[in-house]
Amino acid sequence: MIIEPKVAGNVCLNAHPTGALRLVEELIDFAKKQPKIAGPKRVLVIGASAGYGLATRIINTYVNDATTIGVSFERAGSADKVGAVGWYNNLAFSKLAKADGKQEMTLSGDAFSQACKDEVIATAKELFKGEKIDLVVYSLASPMRTAPDGITYKSVLKPTGQPYTGKTVNIFNAQVSEVTIEPASEEEAKNTVKVMGGEDWILWIEALKAHDLLAAGAITMAYSYIGPEMTYPLYREGTIGKAKEHLEQSVGELNSLLASLNGKAYVSVNKAVMTRASSVIPVVPLYMAILYKLMKAKGTHEGTIEQAYRLMDRLYNHDTVLVDDVGRIRLDDWEMDRALQKEIELAWNNLDLSRVREETDLEGIRKEFMQIHGFEVDGVDYSQEVDPSRID
Ligand code: NAI
Repeated sequence: MIIEPKVAGNVCLNAHPTGALRLVEELIDFAKKQPKIAGPKRVLVIGASAGYGLATRIINTYVNDATTIGVSFERAGSADKVGAVGWYNNLAFSKLAKADGKQEMTLSGDAFSQACKDEVIATAKELFKGEKIDLVVYSLASPMRTAPDGITYKSVLKPTGQPYTGKTVNIFNAQVSEVTIEPASEEEAKNTVKVMGGEDWILWIEALKAHDLLAAGAITMAYSYIGPEMTYPLYREGTIGKAKEHLEQSVGELNSLLASLNGKAYVSVNKAVMTRASSVIPVVPLYMAILYKLMKAKGTHEGTIEQAYRLMDRLYNHDTVLVDDVGRIRLDDWEMDRALQKEIELAWNNLDLSRVREETDLEGIRKEFMQIHGFEVDGVDYSQEVDPSRID
């Protein structure tokens, strides 16, 4: 079939297999060009099919020559139905990594379930042949979680306490509108913590430890975000921020769990990048359009793959891991640079709503959004028929 993008709001409902393959190829090409790092050799990435998880997997595979297990939950394609982009990314990664002689195993399942944990444990025992895991990356972004109590919790993107009114942009028609979002109920806030907090991360580490699968000195890591004050009411002080606080606080319990192995848990606070998870957060795309424009002009702009490399460098290339006063790795250091943030604030406050395309990098984030779904990727002939059950 010929696949054209189906977009609703800031969500893309389908994906292009050939474009996904090309994009994974580009990420791998970047990784191949980086100086090697004597990093972990056996790596588990939970949430490996897209965004930060995929980039971390690629860097570990190509920069440290690690064997990886990647877990994700993505809709498969079939002869008459287009799959989710993450499903194509997985096929692309497996194909390209195998062709390069890399060892990997890609599993599909609900990472929150015990069944998925059991499958990963069985796979790790077989694939790593008695050797243990050095690095566990927890990179899930999910709207819901069925917890061990059998209840399905849903996460929401809402402020807490007060309603929030702010600017948001439709990345396709450049229309900026004011949105008002009512505050979450206490239950919604608690449920968001259940989904996106650290509870399941701890369950993973407990399960891997119980099966003696973690190496001496093993590291586990999850990703967080803080961002600028203009997004605080909705992000950091909103329901998702509460979940991120919980995730960050889980590091204490994880460090106790890992202490006997001399292991360590970290949260890395990453830069805002365009992914399926970030495009749907109101306010954030407009902030990102300004951020991208200014960071590109300064030459400090990074995508997921550049961030993943810098993270591995921070973790494995230095005698001590650089952290902030509460122990977090700050890969958002360039984004949060004071002078840059002042410029962003000025641009945000003075934005001429009739000139959004000129004054921001809206086109850059729109294109990136299309590309992470396999569309508008250079060198792909979109008029060609493709079989959505595979990648070529
Ligand atoms: P993404 O949407 O690109 O990737 C999410 C991954 O989670 C996918 O591999 C998906 O298959 C997997 N997943 C979701 N539910 C699952 C389930 N039940 N079982 C197994 N896998 C499941 O998202 P992105 O942006 O890469 O987010 C990853 C982490 O990075 C999140 O914790 C996010 O908050 C964090 N982060 C993202 C930033 C951004 O700007 N995108 C900035 C800083 C942190």
